[in-house]
Amino acid sequence: MKSTKFIFTTLNLSKEFLESIFTLASKIEQNLENYSDKCKGKILATLFFEPSTRTMLSFESAMLRLGGSILGFSSAKTSSLAKGETIADTLRMINGYADIAVIRHFLEGVGEIAKKYSSIPVISGGTGTQAHPTQAMLDLYTIKNAFGTIDGLKVALMGDLKYGRTIPSLLYGLAKYENVTVYLVSPKELKIRNHVRQRLKDFNLKFYEIDDVSQIIDELDVLYVTRIQKERFPDQLDYERLKSSYKISPSTLKDTKKSFILLHPLPRVDEITPEVDDLGCAKYFEQAKNGVYVRMAIILKLLGVE
Ligand code: CP
Repeated sequence: MKSTKFIFTTLNLSKEFLESIFTLASKIEQNLENYSDKCKGKILATLFFEPSTRTMLSFESAMLRLGGSILGFSSAKTSSLAKGETIADTLRMINGYADIAVIRHFLEGVGEIAKKYSSIPVISGGTGTQAHPTQAMLDLYTIKNAFGTIDGLKVALMGDLKYGRTIPSLLYGLAKYENVTVYLVSPKELKIRNHVRQRLKDFNLKFYEIDDVSQIIDELDVLYVTRIQKERFPDQLDYERLKSSYKISPSTLKDTKKSFILLHPLPRVDEITPEVDDLGCAKYFEQAKNGVYVRMAIILKLLGVE
């Protein structure tokens, strides 16, 4: 398997690579202690130019659980970006301070800059509206844990499919598996973007675009709900109009299969009501926890420590 140093998209990740991450994450989950000093002496830098709770903290937790150390910043305001420093220069600096870095940035081309200016591995912790590859990897890991396989599943992605960056990353990940059927559920204004749709066609992924989840809820294995991304709307009036387009409550889920699971990358606003949290199918907090195991596996792979 070709070694990977940069992860900025799931487009170019092979099924073999994804599966190797899931196998390692599963071993870590089963025996966390065995990995407690694998990254002793190594430093992870977390460069977060946009807000985060889960991605930043779970990467930090992952490195600390591997016996390594962490440094970084959690806001563009507390980095020298505020003084006009370029992302290229920031990455050059970080190469002298850390062994591996995670970057969350609004700029679509940040991955190309990382490849040009970084000799240490760099991972996207979320790139604008474009990509969130490690989120997709933990989403797929959670699905695999629930069903033992991803092949043959029926998965619906619902909500803000236009601005949610987890959506293209998860779709390109699902496209690597066999006989997966995807339902894309959204208001017409928040459908996937054309270039994403074209890529799904190129991948021969079977997908249907609909606006009402009740049409297919009884067939689904997985429903993946996303927040309407208020901060990405050019016009806040559009957000106000669309923000309550859908809501998942226990009554929405009354006809689901016994094995059905409900996922959400989080944070949620009000698209899943709190009563749903008590249902057995609600796996989103487990999904967030899986982020630590999957990110531990990613750090180990990229550092070549196994
Ligand atoms: N799922 C996710 O990316 O959450 P954060 O924005 O809190 O990192």
